[in-house]
Amino acid sequence: MRKQKRAIVILTGAGISAESGLATFRDQDGLWEGHAVDEVATPEAFERNPELVQRFYNLRRAALATVEPNAAHRALARLQDEYGGRVTLITQNVDDLHERGGFSGAIHMHGELRRVKCEVCHWEGGWEGDLEVTTACPECGTTGHLRPDIVWFGEMPYSMDVIEAAVGSAGVFAAIGTSGLVYPAAGLVRLAKFAGAETVEINNKETAVSGTFDRCRTGPASVEVPAWVDELLAED
Ligand code: OAD
Repeated sequence: MRKQKRAIVILTGAGISAESGLATFRDQDGLWEGHAVDEVATPEAFERNPELVQRFYNLRRAALATVEPNAAHRALARLQDEYGGRVTLITQNVDDLHERGGFSGAIHMHGELRRVKCEVCHWEGGWEGDLEVTTACPECGTTGHLRPDIVWFGEMPYSMDVIEAAVGSAGVFAAIGTSGLVYPAAGLVRLAKFAGAETVEINNKETAVSGTFDRCRTGPASVEVPAWVDELLAED
């Protein structure tokens, strides 16, 4: 009789999109396109300088139109299509390259650039163009309170209950292209180990949490992820 397939849970970070041409967060002295984190990625920054914050995310949203998914994104979609068991993808990325690479149902724990939400009436929805401080909420009409649907520092990541349940019953846990510096995402490997999962890190460098994983594959995601997926699909 065939063995039951293990549930696979994958956490991705900015490193999986680096080869598509999107900058990672911490590979440039902690600056994101020249801005310190607290200038653009906190609720306080949005209160203090909404023009700057909107411009920053407008540029990042517009940049999505200039990039394409790479072999690593596509390999995870192939895993979802061909693996005979459950595959859960948790991403810290706010880009849409997993979706465009063919993965359906990725959990965006830090939000999505192509979504916005209203601080006043809590409307949320898809958004393609720029957001200005004068843009009115399509639902309640208020201006000045429509913001990118991004989880800023000091805010609670999305879907933590679903994420913890998936990681807590994982048979395999993989972290791909993430520095292991931002919690709670960085702590998921410990939960996976506690659940008895085999843990693997895929990164082009050693990270803050490499020592916690059972094994590390070191190299570019576009090479290492397809090779890892081939291994999983070849298992009985
Ligand atoms: P980081 O910029 O902290 O880390 C990116 C990781 O990817 C690093 O460990 C790099 O070594 C690795 N990397 C870079 N290029 C790679 C490649 N081609 N192949 C494999 N690995 C590569 O990004 P995250 O860990 O995603 O949060 O950052 C976590 C969170 O911090 C982000 O989601 C963001 C930020 O604050 C929010 O926006 C809320």
